[in-house]
Amino acid sequence: NRKAFIFDLDGVIVDTAKYHYLAWQKIANELNIEFTLEHNELLKGVSRVRSLDIILELGKVEASQEDKDRWLVQKNEDYLSYLVDMDENEILPGVFPVLKFLKEKNQPIALGSASKNARPILEKTGILSYFDAIVDGNDVTNAKPDPEVFLIAAKLLDTKPENAFVFEDSVAGVQAANIGNMTSIGIGESGILHEAKYIFKDFTAIDTNFIEDLINR
Ligand code: BG6
Ligand code: MG
Repeated sequence: NRKAFIFDLDGVIVDTAKYHYLAWQKIANELNIEFTLEHNELLKGVSRVRSLDIILELGKVEASQEDKDRWLVQKNEDYLSYLVDMDENEILPGVFPVLKFLKEKNQPIALGSASKNARPILEKTGILSYFDAIVDGNDVTNAKPDPEVFLIAAKLLDTKPENAFVFEDSVAGVQAANIGNMTSIGIGESGILHEAKYIFKDFTAIDTNFIEDLINR
């Protein structure tokens, strides 16, 4: 039974969650909407369009489509400005060894991200070649917690959902994996990601025995 290892991108492989937060915070500030780190958890794993709607709902702001489109462009330009100098140093601690281990063991690896900026980030950080399949915000119609992104990834890797393991830092992503009948592995705080089957603070807390066990199930 062929396994699949599916990685979320932002906040799992690279430390870009903080840049998304900074860029949204600017928009929220301009609109006089209070937007805290706690609010930000609601945005993790969620599409760009839905993220803006959540912020506007928080501030009870109603906006025209024209305004929304402008803010979406502004947010992405601002976000991309943080990525200009991005390189392999942006890969979160412990991630690279796990990717390498999986490759050595010939395990199928996919990306399952809501981001439309996923490919350039994998290129800049030099890890594009580790992925047998890439499913991102350009490929899906339903945002996490809908499992679509992970189901497509498992299918591309020719693996049944029940044999797929999903690494996620967002509540929506953990829920998506669970709803898709996959094994969710939360990366972050247990208080936030308590719905995950396994939780690790970060990838340095994951040892190769754990991965080996998953491979041999
Ligand atoms: C997810 C992030 O990976 O991608 C969200 O967790 C982000 O914060 C979403 O909004 C969409 O990303 P992008 O790069 O298409 O704006
Ligand atoms: Mg994420």
